[in-house]
Amino acid sequence: MAARAQRTTGTVVITGASAGIGSACARRLHEEGWTVVGASRRTSPVDPWQQVVMDVDDDASVAEGMARIIAEHGGIDAVVTCAGWGLAGPVETTPLGEAAAQIETNFFGTVRTVVAALPSLRERQGRVIVLSSIGGLIGLPFQAYYSASKFALEGWAEALAWEVKPFGVDVTLVEPGNFATDFTASRRLVASTEDDPYRAAQAKAISTMEADELGGRGPEQVAEVVSRLLVARRPPRRLTVGPAGERLGSFVKRLLPNRVFEAASASSLGV
Ligand SMILES: NC(=O)c1ccc[n+]([C@@H]2O[C@H](COP(=O)([O-])OP(=O)(O)OC[C@H]3O[C@@H](n4cnc5c(N)ncnc54)[C@H](OP(=O)(O)O)[C@@H]3O)[C@@H](O)[C@H]2O)c1
Repeated sequence: MAARAQRTTGTVVITGASAGIGSACARRLHEEGWTVVGASRRTSPVDPWQQVVMDVDDDASVAEGMARIIAEHGGIDAVVTCAGWGLAGPVETTPLGEAAAQIETNFFGTVRTVVAALPSLRERQGRVIVLSSIGGLIGLPFQAYYSASKFALEGWAEALAWEVKPFGVDVTLVEPGNFATDFTASRRLVASTEDDPYRAAQAKAISTMEADELGGRGPEQVAEVVSRLLVARRPPRRLTVGPAGERLGSFVKRLLPNRVFEAASASSLGV
């Protein structure tokens, strides 16, 4: 492996750049001099970075989009995967089709994008930043399939990191707590019936999580972390970002017996 030069800018592909955390990352990196390509289903006439229409759920859309970006820019130095959404509903009553759609975007959408970029990232000793979540470290009640999609990313990215290390490619999981973005309004809710035994508990848990999200900080804080990770000499495997109380939860979970941790965190999870 060739000695690694300190990277300051380059070409970065950001999925989910049309809103929230991805948009904040695109703005910040664009201002810092990166060549930013934002890949989402929607485009905006006012965003100054290059925009590519890409649906991460779709094999052909990602293959074509990424091939076009690589051809146009000669390669990719970094990928930041922000495309994602949330599904809320009890495990027992969530139709498997809705659960699968959640895993499709959040997990396989990330997989498609990163795999398409890897040949170029290997050539350039590039960097992968995967947007996970504190919900990828702690199972969130009534967001089980969201948590499952993020737990899947946690294991996948950890394994990927071993495989690409010999090529000088670094992989970091960024695990945000609650941030105020379009994520709350975009959340899909599983349909519930009057006699749904989980109805009251779900309503309480969801209203707690939505209040926490809407009361959260802006996504610029996550963008600042991503910007630092892209140029860090030794980027960490994982980094939580958000208020200390939320970040502490994932740390404390590793120290306490599960029953003690669950009792201590129940009220903050709205259960
Ligand atoms: N906000 C939070 O509190 C929070 C906390 C922890 C983790 N996260 C994670 O951070 C990431 C970004 O979330 P956010 O808060 O920025 O949400 P957001 O404001 O709703 O933005 C989501 C982005 O994902 C894109 N997207 C969704 N489905 C897509 C698809 N099939 N193909 C391509 N793009 C798709 C959307 O673009 P289009 O609709 O234009 O395609 C949009 O740009 C997600 O992975 C989320 O799980 C968020």
